[in-house]
Amino acid sequence: MTRTSDDPAPGPDGAAAAIGLGHADSPEALRTRVAGLLERSRARSTTLTDAVDEADLLAQHSPLMSPLVWDLAHIGSQEELWLVRDVGGREPLRPEIDGLYDAFRHSRASRIGLPLLGPADTRTYVAEVREKALDALSRSPLRGRRLEHKAFAFGMIVQHEQQHDETMLATHQLRTGAPVLHAEAPPAPLAAHTGPREVLVPAGAFTQGTSGEPWALDNERPAHTVELPAYWIDVHPVTNGEYAEFVAAGGYEDAHWWSEAGWAHRREEGLVAPRFWARDGGTGEWWRRRFGVVERVPADEPVVHVCFHEAAAYARWAGKRLPTEAEWEKAARFDPASGRSRRYPWGDEEPTPRHANLGQRHLRPAAVGAYPEGASPLGVEQLIGDVWEWCDSGWHPYPGFEAFPYEEYSEVFFGGDYKVLRGGSFGTDESAIRTTFRNWDHPIRRQIFAGFRCARDAAPGDTERVI
Ligand code: AVJ
Ligand code: FE
Repeated sequence: MTRTSDDPAPGPDGAAAAIGLGHADSPEALRTRVAGLLERSRARSTTLTDAVDEADLLAQHSPLMSPLVWDLAHIGSQEELWLVRDVGGREPLRPEIDGLYDAFRHSRASRIGLPLLGPADTRTYVAEVREKALDALSRSPLRGRRLEHKAFAFGMIVQHEQQHDETMLATHQLRTGAPVLHAEAPPAPLAAHTGPREVLVPAGAFTQGTSGEPWALDNERPAHTVELPAYWIDVHPVTNGEYAEFVAAGGYEDAHWWSEAGWAHRREEGLVAPRFWARDGGTGEWWRRRFGVVERVPADEPVVHVCFHEAAAYARWAGKRLPTEAEWEKAARFDPASGRSRRYPWGDEEPTPRHANLGQRHLRPAAVGAYPEGASPLGVEQLIGDVWEWCDSGWHPYPGFEAFPYEEYSEVFFGGDYKVLRGGSFGTDESAIRTTFRNWDHPIRRQIFAGFRCARDAAPGDTERVI
């Protein structure tokens, strides 16, 4: 039988008692924690929006994105809806603006044409909402009602703001002009990367998803057992250097590596390399533009800004395939010693800067090998942070799925033209990522911070060794 954090039988690490945000916390401790997370997400939204001038906040940098001022007001609008009106029981602050910030009413490309609040009004609005949300936090018992139990609504809103902060970071990557965001370089690996390595994941059952993680979103629930045959998975995401070999080998010119839909897309769009790459006409070297900085493409960092079709074509060229999301999750959290599924690859403790490249601390993926302490029990690295990883799975509910607290978060997208992404990126906050966290996007999208790793079927007789 398999165990999960939701099944807190004593694990060998004795971590069961500490599992689950707020399990043992008093309401006071939980309030302090929530207030800190709300403050941190707002600090990030502020950094991202204060970095540019007013005209830039109102501009549409790409038809794929909203103006930054829309994201900011939408963050406030969702916070008002759930924390101020629902939990707090207050009347709408500005009923006349509600419809403007409803993501379902207006496509990203059309938001520029709406009578949006200007930058100053938006800042005032989100500050008013925050003040009332903190008042709701001080009054809620943080238990009882499901929405308030263990501060779920607050955790959901923290994650929502952080998700939009990652979206705003993608908007920053699409804008042109001099750099306005700055961050330290990520840590370097201890040893040089020596080519692709993979590990064998043994056949058998594991627990996918979660029932007990207090702030897990509806699509991560419930925990359920999944049986998988043995497979190999790469220790690291595919690097720029590895991906450049595919480009140099004519991978973009050979339909053989591409699915039918992928090839049609590659032709229509004239794709020749990852987004933001350009070749130096003289030397033939690849350069990239990253938040306004033009630099040589670093060979040992995970490739980023590739769509699902490019990822799948590379994998096929390499004699491999993309993992399914169940394969990704088993590699990330299954502990063969205990049979348990962990909260994070390294254990049940929350991420720290030693474990993973998260939180916009570094504005780029780290070189492969930079996070040995973040390895999973099976020895798979950099699953959390760096780049979102495309999986060969469509967007579907788990058995027993229940929409909560609203259908428009996950349910309305099930069965659509989406592929699953796992693990978060350098742009994802710690509070908005777990081994159970599921993201999804259209298979043609490249503006997100997405890369991939490869997997392949195990043959009978393959042994458990790292090659
Ligand atoms: C989970 C990243 C696909 O940004 O479309 C934000 C998250 N949902 N507001 C998105 C979300 C509602 C969502 N993704
Ligand atoms: Fe949203």
